[in-house]
Amino acid sequence: MVRRTPRLKPDEVAGRFTSRWHDERVASWLGMALGIAFLTAFVTGLISHFMQHPPDWAQWPSRPVGLYRLTQGLHVIGGLATIPLLAAKLWTVYPKLFQWPPLRSAGHAVERGLVFVLVGASLFQLVTGLLNISYWYAFPFFFTTAHYWTSYILIGALLIHAANEWAKVRRTVMTRPEDGLGRRGFLLGVAGVSGVVVLTTVGETFTPLARLAVLAPRRPGRGPQGLLVNRSALAAGVTGPARDPRWRLRVTGRVERELSLSLDDLRALPRRSVRLPIACVEGWSAEGTWDGVRLRDVLRLAGVDGDARVRVESLQGGGAFRSSHVDPPHWRDPLTLLALGLNGEPLHLDHGYPCRLIAPNRPGVMQTKWIGAVVVE
Ligand code: HEM
Repeated sequence: MVRRTPRLKPDEVAGRFTSRWHDERVASWLGMALGIAFLTAFVTGLISHFMQHPPDWAQWPSRPVGLYRLTQGLHVIGGLATIPLLAAKLWTVYPKLFQWPPLRSAGHAVERGLVFVLVGASLFQLVTGLLNISYWYAFPFFFTTAHYWTSYILIGALLIHAANEWAKVRRTVMTRPEDGLGRRGFLLGVAGVSGVVVLTTVGETFTPLARLAVLAPRRPGRGPQGLLVNRSALAAGVTGPARDPRWRLRVTGRVERELSLSLDDLRALPRRSVRLPIACVEGWSAEGTWDGVRLRDVLRLAGVDGDARVRVESLQGGGAFRSSHVDPPHWRDPLTLLALGLNGEPLHLDHGYPCRLIAPNRPGVMQTKWIGAVVVE
């Protein structure tokens, strides 16, 4: 026998779905928490996007040193903590799917449509984000582009939805309920699950809690020289040219003097040691002690000064992260090095031997490894 989906009038829905947590007050509190979480993800996501693709008129500061580490950590760990909130919210409101008639007027139809867009975009962001940080590239599209544009759709739909529901939220949140019906316990339970997600993942970026990071895809302290590696020299196809004794660092482009420096030439320049994190776009981060020569010292040798825009190019034949721009705030920063060593040893091949960039407040994908040329534009 086929069971029919119940068709219920709005006021019958409450009678059918008897759980006390299918409730306006619960939905309002969860909605507010989700609003804050999505806005935080949007702002921190845009920071990541515009750091990697700055408009011509803007340059990111190189300080505070760990700003990107913080914003991207917040993005990913906050995003993971949002998953239980969204699951609870969807469970709280799903009886509304069974209201009959589903559409009461043209305005109601538009509002319902927007809610579907909001739910779809939220699920898309959380699922693709989760798959991406788990290195499971199961989707047939480029994650970053899809994730970026969907975030505008999500935030647009969220703002309209919040405006529509605001009166209801104010009414339910501002007034004290006659009886709690265990709502507070339910909300605390959901907050507790989100808290557990944070506790078991945040150690991938907040090193003192590394031991608790059992659910994090990456844990600090692993990898050659005690530091994680996302792309090895083998995967990047540079093992040959990076080990070649004829390797030279070329400094070229709009320079007074072209340079071609061997590894010994670089080692003979004033050496500096800095403690800086690698902060990956995927949310993990870890500090290392780097030593090498200041990029600004090398550029000065080539007669470069002022507001020049610089590009560092890797030995890789291609790929999205073959080169990266280093704007004046970054190349002039005394902490920005052409690193030759890490944690007291010569740089490991997978960390960018013979020479890599390490700079403050910058995504890991822009800390270019296996540098072959510094080009002044
Ligand atoms: C579980 C939740 C989420 C995870 C794990 C996650 C993960 C990520 C990751 C790994 C990136 C870096 C991509 C890259 O540069 O290669 C990123 C970027 C971004 N995320 Fe999320 N995200 C989540 C939720 C969200 C949500 C809810 C929004 C919007 C409300 C959002 C908006 C963005 C934006 C705008 C970017 C920048 C994309 C770009 O560089 O073009 N994310 N996210």
